[in-house]
Amino acid sequence: MTASPASSDNVQMRTDQGNDGVVNLRDKLALFSEHWSPKVVARLNDYELKVVKLQGEFVWHSHEDTDELFLVIDGRLTIQLRDGDVALGPGEMYVVPRGVEHCPIAEGEVSAMLIEPIGVVNTGGAGGELTAAHDDRLMG
Ligand code: NI
Repeated sequence: MTASPASSDNVQMRTDQGNDGVVNLRDKLALFSEHWSPKVVARLNDYELKVVKLQGEFVWHSHEDTDELFLVIDGRLTIQLRDGDVALGPGEMYVVPRGVEHCPIAEGEVSAMLIEPIGVVNTGGAGGELTAAHDDRLMG
């Protein structure tokens, strides 16, 4: 068999198919407008990658069993922690360690990606009206 690395045929096929596993985060973010309601866009082993829009102040909460990653795509996000704030701009990320209380606050609208194990609830142990249902309608 003859190898044909980087063949133009492969490139053309990918273009024609239009869906080869590539996830465009901006396209996904354009599909919804609600805040504090994370949408699953991919799974990675036992983890989910979610996009979310944030505006205003969330609720203080913690996740007793897991760390939680925030990666800012657009806007400026402050993650309030009991011992100080973390400020994030586009392209910056922060991992909130398990069990650590945090409260995100976005003065304008922020778009972000979250990476956390399947089944994590956005409000952790705090509950309340901002608790979002699991939403994987943007998968695929
Ligand atoms: Ni959290």
